[in-house]
Amino acid sequence: MNLKQKYGNTALVAGASEGIGAAFATHLAAEGMDLVIIARRLQPLEQLADLLKNKFRINVKCISCDLSEFNATQLVEEALNGLDISLLVYNAALSYIGPFLKNSVEDHNRAAVLNMITPLNLVRLFGEKMSTRGKGAVVLMTSLACFQGSGYLAVYAATKAFNRILAESLWYEWKNSGVDIIACCAGATATPGYKNSHPEKTGFFTPRVLDPEEVADECLKKLGKQPSFITGRGNRIASFIMQKIMPRKMAVNIMGDTTRKMYRV
Ligand SMILES: NC(=O)c1ccc[n+]([C@@H]2O[C@H](COP(=O)([O-])OP(=O)(O)OC[C@H]3O[C@@H](n4cnc5c(N)ncnc54)[C@H](OP(=O)(O)O)[C@@H]3O)[C@@H](O)[C@H]2O)c1
Repeated sequence: MNLKQKYGNTALVAGASEGIGAAFATHLAAEGMDLVIIARRLQPLEQLADLLKNKFRINVKCISCDLSEFNATQLVEEALNGLDISLLVYNAALSYIGPFLKNSVEDHNRAAVLNMITPLNLVRLFGEKMSTRGKGAVVLMTSLACFQGSGYLAVYAATKAFNRILAESLWYEWKNSGVDIIACCAGATATPGYKNSHPEKTGFFTPRVLDPEEVADECLKKLGKQPSFITGRGNRIASFIMQKIMPRKMAVNIMGDTTRKMYRV
């Protein structure tokens, strides 16, 4: 059974125009699902939509929406105009790299809405409809930063922990309902966002940088099988050492030191 047969006709990818979001959209289109794709910039969304429509003969609806606005879920619901969503991928995120006190309350609030409040509201909205239908699926993109305090990425790491815990909790609540949910804990992935941040090699605990397609493909294979997972073998090994072998204090120090060196903070 492919994803369309298992979950239904239409997938919504929030944060879809490039990187991991575009890779999810492409994988889902290749399985024959119609798409709703969301980002702020309409032009890259429409380019992707044209490509996927021509290649896979599917329908694609583009929604330009800033998901860091408090009323984003309401705007998305209005734009959908009653269209049923069978599979939700929440991929968009914002990370400020640097000292916590360098960013304003407004900046931190914007990250909190984009990374936590909007996915929470969309999961509440679509989760209810999926539960009523007795089928559906949700993917929440999170990060290796979600496993421990991560200095200079404090708000990002905290919001990513929220997503992992939300997905794992709902996986338990929904496991006999026909609705699957998974938290995808990604390590470094070669997306435009990652490349534009110009990370330095630190030489320590730096597993291979994955391609966005590897992340999306691995995640959709694991969907329905476990509550959360870590992308790529190298990331799993590094995470195992940090979570299961090192004392917590050491893991937190390594995360902070690595981020400081990677981004020359
Ligand atoms: N790349 C990595 O190394 C890495 C590592 C760990 C976890 N992750 C996670 O993977 C996910 C994707 O990362 P990525 O590197 O692919 O991100 P990205 O390259 O920055 O792409 C993010 C996508 O989200 C959209 N987006 C960003 N802000 C938005 C907003 N306010 N409203 C609506 N759409 C918005 C962007 O389009 P617009 O700019 O047009 O809005 C774009 O389509 C994130 O959840 C991130 O935390 C990534």
